[in-house]
Amino acid sequence: MTAQPTLPLDWPTTARLDPPETPLAPLRYIRTVVRNPVETWPRAVYRDRVYQSTFLGRATLFVMDPGLVRTVLVDRAESFEKSEVLRRSLSPALGDAILTADGARWRWQRRAAAPIFRNERILGFLPAMIAAAERTREALKGLPPGTEADLAQVMMRTTFDIIAATMLSSHGRIDVARVERGITDYLESTSWIFALTLLRAPAWMPFPGRRRSEAARTYLRDELLRLVAEGRAGGVEGRDDLLSLLVAARDPESGRAMDDRDVADNLLTFVTAGHETTALALAWTLYLLALHPAIEARVVAEVEAVTGGGPLAPHHVEALGFTRQAIQEAMRLYPPAPVLVRAALEEVDVGGHRIGPGTPVTVPIYAIHRHALLWDEPDRFDPDRFAPEAAKARDRYAYLPFGAGPRICIGMSFALMEAVAILAVLIRDLRFALRPGFVPTLKQRITLRPAEGMPMRVAPRAG
Ligand code: HEM
Repeated sequence: MTAQPTLPLDWPTTARLDPPETPLAPLRYIRTVVRNPVETWPRAVYRDRVYQSTFLGRATLFVMDPGLVRTVLVDRAESFEKSEVLRRSLSPALGDAILTADGARWRWQRRAAAPIFRNERILGFLPAMIAAAERTREALKGLPPGTEADLAQVMMRTTFDIIAATMLSSHGRIDVARVERGITDYLESTSWIFALTLLRAPAWMPFPGRRRSEAARTYLRDELLRLVAEGRAGGVEGRDDLLSLLVAARDPESGRAMDDRDVADNLLTFVTAGHETTALALAWTLYLLALHPAIEARVVAEVEAVTGGGPLAPHHVEALGFTRQAIQEAMRLYPPAPVLVRAALEEVDVGGHRIGPGTPVTVPIYAIHRHALLWDEPDRFDPDRFAPEAAKARDRYAYLPFGAGPRICIGMSFALMEAVAILAVLIRDLRFALRPGFVPTLKQRITLRPAEGMPMRVAPRAG
């Protein structure tokens, strides 16, 4: 395996992982898991339909064939649960809330949150999304000429503003910078937890950064608990924000309501799952557009044409088809959630492989999105792949940035609308140029981040 970053030979080829030809030896495997789990996937994962890997006698099945992805995520979804790795990584911070729970407990939490993601509700969030994007645009315009900004960080702040304004009505009382830092510190520990889970080490096992991660977790959980208590004290009657929906929900089986801890865990889940992912989608989109000026020009021209040169209004967003395609294609090359892992609850046949209870099944989204059998020139950035006819002709399960089946991202429409609105507001008035020679390194910490951020020079677009 060669080290990242991959130097582009036929510039502007974009940054990518360079998978090892053959499976890594155990020690190297564990070291790579700690550094960057996605780099352990061998080339076969990008070429074959299924791939079986074994570590310390324990097998994992990688599933790339779209038909088999469908078996795992949709047709036999009831036969799988979230993996041990996910639970060990995320439950200490997120509890047993919507992202980490399974079965009946997951179902009623999903049902409780669903009304806020109905289409008409999300449309109502568009003014807040556009306003946050405009604030970011003005802040960037105010930078001295030639200043470099970390656009990954700037996008995090923008999407955080939006998630707080739309999901947590009381966002004025949140220390945004501290919460963001807490989330990053916490996620930093997850690759260690992944490695320790593979080694079957007990949950109390120390590892570098553990204390910092625990401090972050305690801060985040206390902070959200405080918000819930304040929200309840202010009265939830008559409000229909996420907090009041969660407080009002009843488990249909037990009749039980959520206690403050359950509500806080869900709110933190929405804050975490709902802002970093969209920010990454945007950071990677800006990166790709900076490398492909002709495509960038098409996006700018579309925004100009749809808005008629005026400010972006909520009703414009739906009409920005090519802008959306550029984001979809960026999420193909850099899926913010690059992998899903499930564990079988019972014996299941997956394409002739008999999976026993407890066996993990990996859906390597990043590799499926660049798979030799599924995409022409997989490493090329080409938003026309998502033109309506081309997208219709493709297998639904070859493209999974939001997952599929009952656990599909509840925020999918919210995220797409938000990303289109932010990109349109920024790109029409600003030009983003990469630091010369900069090639981002891809790093997985649950999400797929540019390890050094996304340093870009921002300048007003002339004329
Ligand atoms: C580009 C942005 C986003 C991406 C790529 C993304 C990706 C995903 C993926 C792949 C899953 C499925 C996980 C699995 O099956 O194991 C998921 C679940 C989830 N997402 Fe997103 N997401 C995004 C934005 C959002 C937003 C904006 C929100 C909330 C406002 C959100 C909230 C959630 C929640 C709560 C779940 C768990 C759903 C469940 O298990 O029922 N996500 N997301």
